[in-house]
Amino acid sequence: MKRCDTKAQLGVMVQQTRAVGKKVGFVPTMGALHPGHASLIERASNECDFVVVSVFVNPTQFDNAQDFATYPIALERDIDVAQAAGAHAVFTPKVVELYGGDLAVEPVNYGRLTSTFEGKMRKGHFDGVVAVVRKLFQAVQADAAYFGEKDLQQLAVIRRLAADEFEGLEIVGCPLIREEDGLAMSSRNVRMSDDDRQTALHLSGWLKSIRADASAGIEVGKLLDKVRLEAAAVEGLELEYVDAVNGHTFEPQQVTGNGNGVFAIIAADVGGIRLIDNCRLACS
Ligand code: PAF
Repeated sequence: MKRCDTKAQLGVMVQQTRAVGKKVGFVPTMGALHPGHASLIERASNECDFVVVSVFVNPTQFDNAQDFATYPIALERDIDVAQAAGAHAVFTPKVVELYGGDLAVEPVNYGRLTSTFEGKMRKGHFDGVVAVVRKLFQAVQADAAYFGEKDLQQLAVIRRLAADEFEGLEIVGCPLIREEDGLAMSSRNVRMSDDDRQTALHLSGWLKSIRADASAGIEVGKLLDKVRLEAAAVEGLELEYVDAVNGHTFEPQQVTGNGNGVFAIIAADVGGIRLIDNCRLACS
């Protein structure tokens, strides 16, 4: 596996690959790779001939300086994980390589996709995500890019970016991967104390009950209200939102049914760490 940190080196590598008709897959990450990332790389390597993984902690998408300062970094381990999962190249640019000297990013307005939930709670977050993913897509020139459904709203935003600006680039959404105890995998989980981790399990527990009760025909609005009440009583957990939405448009949608892509989404702060999770509700 090759490692490069400039767009020029990467460009040469990708051009040579494409010149012989090979399909290029891309998995963008911020490092601290866990099995959720590995599953994206594995899927990409099953579907593509050449897989590029980027490791870049993007400063412009953090709305919280402390979160940026403490974001876990494990580059040597990341390289091993990427290689074991089937990557052919790891792209590790420095900030200046992607942004030059200017970290200002354009505001992005994709309507509800960028103004609700994560867009509302984390001001400027999607501006930074779109800015960096646009730069990475331009640098990598992939045929397909792989993103986890853990960041469901980000996935919808990226689909919109690709539809508007990257014709022919396939965006592949991949299932959220959970720890054995049900916690959604996240690079930030390593920063949680044991107690906070127990508290954090409420999120996946609530989603599981919403899904089961919605399949049994209970009105989703009532289930969401029940979770809001329960969450208010949990010490050390501050619920930001819990809702049911269409996973592509992020319109609120409380009627589940065959294939209509309804997801329950939740975000909460546990011990100073912001957690998000979701699960598909539409049932057969
Ligand atoms: O999901 C992430 O890890 C990041 O938001 C991404 C897509 C790599 C952009 O920095």
